Amino acid sequence: MKTDLPTSKSGKTAIQVAQDVALHAGDMLKKSFGQVQNISHKGRGNIVTEMDTEVEAAMFAVLGREFPNMALVGEESSGGQVPESGYVWVVDPIDGTRNYASGIPFFSIVAGLVLDGEPVLGVNYDPMLDEMFIAERGQGAFLNGKQIWVSERTALDQSILGMDLSYNNEGAINGLEVITTIWPGMQTARIKGSSALGISYAAAGRTDLYFHHQLAPWDQVAGLVLVEEAGGIITDRTGKRAGLHSDGLIASNRTLHREFMQKTEGLAWRRPTHLTA
Ligand code: IPD
Ligand code: CA
Ligand code: CA
Repeated sequence: MKTDLPTSKSGKTAIQVAQDVALHAGDMLKKSFGQVQNISHKGRGNIVTEMDTEVEAAMFAVLGREFPNMALVGEESSGGQVPESGYVWVVDPIDGTRNYASGIPFFSIVAGLVLDGEPVLGVNYDPMLDEMFIAERGQGAFLNGKQIWVSERTALDQSILGMDLSYNNEGAINGLEVITTIWPGMQTARIKGSSALGISYAAAGRTDLYFHHQLAPWDQVAGLVLVEEAGGIITDRTGKRAGLHSDGLIASNRTLHREFMQKTEGLAWRRPTHLTA
């Protein structure tokens, strides 16, 4: 499905504006990297820094100016409700704040455009490596201008699995049980600290499969477009096509996804009891 997205006030394409916004946010984060002053705790491991709010405000300022008729939703200011109709920009100013605040250079900026509840465009930018992952429905997925595809591997024992622990104890423990159950039937596993980059790496075939027990719309808005445009499949834990409010997430190619579903059948991770992040 190809969408014809509106152009911005200054005549730019939506994907160009999203990239400009992400690049500017990336500059802000690079400048302040290693110098985080204020950290507040939302929960164990779940923190917010002064840069999360500053960067989100900077992103909203440009998106609001360029697309005054579109709604804006961000992790830090909107309470998480994505309107079900019309165009909505969904942003995460820092995905991987725990990494960022600890000086671990693995975090990213997410900007995605949603139309009537369906993500139609996604940008995920890693400022430390200057890597820009972009995708628009029907137009392919790209990393720094080069088309990307999900992994071509066909067996989990040849694969790298990516995951994250997030903030829900049950979800994390169940996710680790997925690894210990399949282990040693994989090459290795990676806990990333940025789910947005985790999904982008699956879109680029760097990680063969990525799974997570519960993500928010801003974590996965870009990844949902990236993985499908990279020829992959991205589903919830029941195997249904994933969306902004998916219960769990599995991103890979069709063959590895099938094997993952077979190997995790009956595990606690597959039972949707942990419904918060
Ligand atoms: C978090 C990261 C992490 C994932 C969490 C997210 P944040 O986002 O993506 O990898 O496990 O569920 O909330 O808090 O760094 O923006
Ligand atoms: Ca996030
Ligand atoms: Ca965030």
